[in-house]
Amino acid sequence: MEAQPHATAPADSPALGSLAVQPLLTAEFDADPGAVYRRLRATYGPVAPVGLMGVPVWLVLDYREVLEVLKNESQWRRDVRYWRARAQGELPYDWPLLAGYEVRQMMFMDDEEHRAARRTHHAALRPFQDAKSPVGWELRQAVARYADELVALLAAESGRTGHCDLGAQYTRPLLLMVTTKLFGCPVDLGDELVMDLWRMLDGGPDAGPATGRALAAFTRLAAHRRARPGDDLTSYLMLADPDLDDEQLGRELFMNAVYLNDITGNMVLNTLLEVLRGNATVRRSLSAGQLGETVNRAALANPPVANMCFRFAARDVRLGGFWIRAGDIVSPSAAAAHQDLLAIGSSTMVGSTVSTRAHLGWGAGPHQCPSAARELGALIVSTAVGRVFDHFAQAELTLPPDQLPWRSGPVVRGLKVLPVRYALSPDAPVLHRPDPGLLPAVPHQESQARGLLAALRRLMPGGRKES
Ligand code: HEM
Repeated sequence: MEAQPHATAPADSPALGSLAVQPLLTAEFDADPGAVYRRLRATYGPVAPVGLMGVPVWLVLDYREVLEVLKNESQWRRDVRYWRARAQGELPYDWPLLAGYEVRQMMFMDDEEHRAARRTHHAALRPFQDAKSPVGWELRQAVARYADELVALLAAESGRTGHCDLGAQYTRPLLLMVTTKLFGCPVDLGDELVMDLWRMLDGGPDAGPATGRALAAFTRLAAHRRARPGDDLTSYLMLADPDLDDEQLGRELFMNAVYLNDITGNMVLNTLLEVLRGNATVRRSLSAGQLGETVNRAALANPPVANMCFRFAARDVRLGGFWIRAGDIVSPSAAAAHQDLLAIGSSTMVGSTVSTRAHLGWGAGPHQCPSAARELGALIVSTAVGRVFDHFAQAELTLPPDQLPWRSGPVVRGLKVLPVRYALSPDAPVLHRPDPGLLPAVPHQESQARGLLAALRRLMPGGRKES
């Protein structure tokens, strides 16, 4: 398939706005997105027009076409200013997905501006990804320690056998603790931040205010760290690019927080689910001690970034069965492309423990997950998943897999809860409760507001301190 940069769409080819489109985000999509992708492919071929909250979008379904969109940056632009419907004022004024796209940060830049921002990120992230650097070593220790603390807290609160939600009681707090540490936040980040990121990503009714709240929090953090630099990502971003002001730095942190909390968290849950539901190849790779391969297989089965961020056509181009006009919006779907990939290569790719790195879980092309971020993400996922299997003698789903509730947004597909019946192994970590008389007093209201993390801080000897 060749992009035809100088071609012009024939006048009689259907324009996106003239096509009758079905809404993508339906109850069926929530329950079984694969069935929706199959039907769209059968009706339209590799590219299908769909409605996203009332706005028509080209959804790219087939692996080859998705790769073309991700890799060919001169044709497929990230800057939202290329979007014709936006430039011409044709979008509903309160279209909820726009809030996130209006936040100008690295993801929505092109060409040299984008490459410079990536260099900054790489320089700032690399020390944390490098196990030999002091901060990299410390972060690795911290992730494992937080996971152990959460298992110990679970044992203290719910017993060594019982029921728990591995989302709310393990994965979400773990990623918040990691973000607090990595970003150098002076206070523990709370679950309300994750909810605001969800509202923005999923285009909830209050996506605009939620985006504003999260941005304000990260701008404050940038200002705080500028006054008191430390060994954290915020300070290292500032060092790598001294021209970043607090607002720009806040925007970059905001975007990293999405990947770190929501996307990495979903990758943890999706991997746990694939193992718990008995995906034979995933289990086989886990028992062969190939945790990295387990994560690859889970990403192939269920990529957390199900549909990548929008791209905008720089020029008229034919893609799949349609002419895409300059300024049209496209959404490349990793989840649909994986379905296509599995259909193409099922016998050799999935039936064995051969590597499945062809997955698009990390994206592809110039905007793919930066290598340092990817290694950090993989480290967090494998530690989080590995710790569960180290400490749980038994864990089984309490709902049939097809009844688990999912968040199926325009971008992300992630589990809302992962309920399991569990038994901890005899050597699972325990909380050493200090003498209550020695604990610092925590006002009741604060403990209510902070929930699990506040409980942790109360129970841990010494707690975690401000810096
Ligand atoms: C398992 C966890 C992760 C997964 C599955 C993941 C996946 C992705 C994907 C699919 C993209 C490309 C999106 C697109 O092209 O539309 C991306 C980009 C990005 N990711 Fe990750 N990511 C993960 C972890 C992380 C972590 C931990 C960080 C930072 C701490 C991070 C930072 C970024 C950044 C900054 C970009 C934007 C790159 C650009 O636009 O040039 N990611 N990630």
